[in-house]
Amino acid sequence: MKPNLFPALCLTTLLAVTAAPAALAQDHARQLSERCMLCHGERGENHLLGIPRIGGREFYDLLATMSRFRTGERLHPVMSAIMQSVDEVEMVEVAGYFSEQAGAGIN
Ligand code: HEC
Repeated sequence: MKPNLFPALCLTTLLAVTAAPAALAQDHARQLSERCMLCHGERGENHLLGIPRIGGREFYDLLATMSRFRTGERLHPVMSAIMQSVDEVEMVEVAGYFSEQAGAGIN
């Protein structure tokens, strides 16, 4: 007797369809974060002297710090300019990406 693969196929398709948007969102967040990697490292691991570690830090802490650069409450020639170049939604995505890089370096 031929095994009925239909239920398994349905389940696989359903899983693929529901997983795809999350994976796409993650790709997008990573892509946006690439502009930060030159200085902060691929996982935000503080790889250059004088650049703070941002990988694996608490999401809201990162977001709040990024906003302070954006509003001018905190000033730095480079970071203030960079934060002007991302919108608020992108900031959330980027903060999400770096906060998820657990165990990235030690500060
Ligand atoms: C050209 C180099 C450079 C790039 C690119 C860059 N940063 Fe920075 N970043 C710095 C430097 C330098 C500091 C330290 C600023 C200071 O001393 O106030 C910093 C500080 C920060 C801080 C504060 C960390 C803390 O503990 O105070 C955050 C958060 C941050 N960057 C996020 C980002 C994000 C997100 C991006 C990409 C959108 C980015 N940076 C791109 C150089 C860079």
